[in-house]
Amino acid sequence: MDPDLYAYPETDRPWLRTNFVSTVDGAAHDVSGVTDSLGGEADREVFQLLRRLADVVMVGAGTARIEKYRSVSTPLALVSRRLDIHERLVGPGLFVITTTDAASDRVETLQAAGVEVIAHGEIEIDWPAVLDDFQSRGWRRILCEGGPTLHGDLVTHDLVDEVCLTIAPMLTSGDAPRIAHSRLPVAHGMTLGHAVPVGDVLLTRWVRDRT
Ligand SMILES: NC(=O)c1ccc[n+]([C@@H]2O[C@H](COP(=O)([O-])OP(=O)(O)OC[C@H]3O[C@@H](n4cnc5c(N)ncnc54)[C@H](OP(=O)(O)O)[C@@H]3O)[C@@H](O)[C@H]2O)c1
Repeated sequence: MDPDLYAYPETDRPWLRTNFVSTVDGAAHDVSGVTDSLGGEADREVFQLLRRLADVVMVGAGTARIEKYRSVSTPLALVSRRLDIHERLVGPGLFVITTTDAASDRVETLQAAGVEVIAHGEIEIDWPAVLDDFQSRGWRRILCEGGPTLHGDLVTHDLVDEVCLTIAPMLTSGDAPRIAHSRLPVAHGMTLGHAVPVGDVLLTRWVRDRT
């Protein structure tokens, strides 16, 4: 797999890339409720490469809980309204994206442990303000690793510039979510960046068509 396929474009604004794996029938997790068995080595390589290329890795609290996230070398921005964050993640290097009305006692506990809390928007996160905040920290290459709830919110607000999607050679049925879901259906055109087969796994990259 050629790393140049995943180079971020030169832009003067934050570029929001998301990275997902799905089964052939569009399930965002395997029958165990996680993504472990999907994608194999090729997907793991892309996952690691995308982390290395990013200025910040953003992830929803649900994914961090279920996929047992640990700190990464890139700044990790965890999105949560409830702020019920596992202690293995709490400490310097963790940034938490939340709303201004988040529970103040939880905010204080996190801050006391060295976590930087970034609060924008009341009741709902104000994403343009979050992206401005990222920009002011010099974070323009943003990688969002999901999950579907966070992705759905970002898609609804038309903030996703690029989706890196691995199609895993598996058919599952069941009631797993797609890679994005939200109350409001939207339809945004995408152009194909690349589609590269690696054995039976298909690595794809889709770019938001803003023309
Ligand atoms: N296929 C893939 O590539 C992939 C990638 C990631 C995850 N997954 C799978 O997806 C499943 C988890 O799905 P999920 O939808 O629950 O994941 P998620 O989006 O990571 O987690 C949802 C939680 O994140 C926080 N959150 C998300 N968006 C928010 C927003 N706009 N504002 C405030 N808080 C927000 C909330 O946390 P609080 O409850 O703390 O407020 C919410 O309950 C797992 O099975 C995981 O394996 C698959």
